[in-house]
Amino acid sequence: MNDPLKDSFGRVAKKLRISVTDRCNMRCVYCMPDNNTEWLSQKNLLSYEQMIQIVKVFTLFGIEKLKITGGEPLIRKDIETLVKGLSNIDHIRSLSMTTNGLLLKDKITSLKNSGLNSINISLDTFDRTRFKKISGVDGVSTVREAIMAAIKEKIVVKINTVIMRGWNDDEILDFVKFSRDTGCPVKFIEFMPLDGTGIWSKDLVVSKKEMMDKISKEFGRLFDLKNDAADPARLYTFKDCIGVIGFIPSITEPFCQSCDRIRVTADGKLYGCLFDNRNHDLKCLLDNSKSDNEIYEYIQKCIRQKPEGIVRIIRNQSLVPNMNDMYSIGG
Ligand code: 5AD
Ligand code: SF4
Repeated sequence: MNDPLKDSFGRVAKKLRISVTDRCNMRCVYCMPDNNTEWLSQKNLLSYEQMIQIVKVFTLFGIEKLKITGGEPLIRKDIETLVKGLSNIDHIRSLSMTTNGLLLKDKITSLKNSGLNSINISLDTFDRTRFKKISGVDGVSTVREAIMAAIKEKIVVKINTVIMRGWNDDEILDFVKFSRDTGCPVKFIEFMPLDGTGIWSKDLVVSKKEMMDKISKEFGRLFDLKNDAADPARLYTFKDCIGVIGFIPSITEPFCQSCDRIRVTADGKLYGCLFDNRNHDLKCLLDNSKSDNEIYEYIQKCIRQKPEGIVRIIRNQSLVPNMNDMYSIGG
């Protein structure tokens, strides 16, 4: 093993998120511009072989956890081939995927058999009309069926829920009930200004504290589950230990200091941070058949430049809508 990937703030990268496409079959208001026509062209995407090569190099730095993201990863062709290739890499201890669930039901068995360990499914509402308003698609029952299929498959399933004031904050308690009924952890994510639509405003952010107050009023005290300090999700359960809920308080309690994530986009750009305004082109090295060693040295140099993160932007009071594109960086 080589030196770990340390940035100039002393943080060590341990988790890699790799986006396989910027396209999506939904148009969530907090993510995707509704009229985007500027997709990455097919020829600019990393091939699965290139992704596997890159991930192998990252494992030399001690990367052990991988998450496949999008856009929507399940719209990329033969995604199981990639899952199989990635799960076969030595040193990869965990392989997960974030999906909107629309295409998941029929693929869950083959994904699990290809080596996927866990899956994060996005669900922001239980209401059909509201689901359509948030995502542009009449898909709530399809996604709910996919969630149940994934639970049945005995793969680790977690739900991601972006809470926006006036859109779905009146369903927080329903999501808690859902976790208690199904045993499936629900992670409430504070709305970040990574919206392609430009609708983000501080007023739409519901804080972790506000959500916790609301939940404990109904369900009693929340008990902190001691989890990985580098995991942005703070996890809690209830007195009877039924159900797990988590919060990703990116805006009101940013966790940049312990961030151990880095990201590669579908066209091979390395981002140290979701709020990075610079990226580093790995595809160009792969296309020019650079050696693993050369790629290794380049990555190390790039990671040293990882910015401090949203914490600095908040300190400078310069949060504005649409700071970056979640659908291309992949969350
Ligand atoms: N703020 C917070 N979370 C977001 N996601 C997408 N856009 C935003 C945003 N602007 C979530 C998706 C998905 C995860 C990868 O990130 O719902 O679950
Ligand atoms: Fe698609 Fe996910 Fe973005 Fe929604 S959040 S538009 S499902 S990539």
